Amino acid sequence: MSFKWYLTWLFKPLLFVVCLLPAVLLGYDAYTDALGANPIEEISHITGDWSLRFLLITLTVSPLAILFHARWLNRFRRMLGLFCFFYVCLHLANYVVLDQYFDWPEIYKDIIKRPYISVGFAAFVLLIPLAITSVDKLVELMGKPRWLKLHQLVFVCAVLGVLHYLWVVKADILEPGIYGFILIVLMLFRVWHRRSQANVKV
Ligand code: HEM
Repeated sequence: MSFKWYLTWLFKPLLFVVCLLPAVLLGYDAYTDALGANPIEEISHITGDWSLRFLLITLTVSPLAILFHARWLNRFRRMLGLFCFFYVCLHLANYVVLDQYFDWPEIYKDIIKRPYISVGFAAFVLLIPLAITSVDKLVELMGKPRWLKLHQLVFVCAVLGVLHYLWVVKADILEPGIYGFILIVLMLFRVWHRRSQANVKV
């Protein structure tokens, strides 16, 4: 069996199961009443953390593929990006359904008045076109250059995601600080790689 076979039929399904684990564990904890005194807040923390982690993991795939000359890694990028969107949707659903009970005027007020909600909402809105255009047919329809340009937005989403987290924690900035540091390294890598590619072309 070829490496491609293993990629498609073993690694990808395995990765899918691993990515689903945080949601399964969350579901299990909710079912067994193990989410602590404030389950809604706990769900918000867990889904928020995994949204940002998957966003950063997705952004790490290309640099790893470049550094280790392993283009096959890019085959996992779309799935990881969509898992980020999946966890963001759970995060948002928890807020809209369990936290706010579909109180749309209150949600609107929150988005306008609370900066950390505004920033989180902006990140969510920007992630929508990225998730929609992850379908092969749409990549074809848009053309690769335009698609790539649109998907640069993922960095804006990540910056907004880190800001959102920083705003939530206020004082204990260690964890969002680590995510922010990782994001800066990833952005610097991209700039370095672009420059080195441009120099090769000259
Ligand atoms: C409409 C969009 C969003 C809403 C309404 C929202 C709302 C919230 C709320 C209410 C909290 C908990 C605040 C607290 O504990 O006091 C939170 C935390 C968090 N959110 Fe969001 N969020 C949104 C989008 C996002 C996005 C797009 C990301 C990541 C890409 C994200 C990542 C996080 C993280 C990392 C936390 C902190 C988790 C922790 O404390 O461990 N959120 N969000």
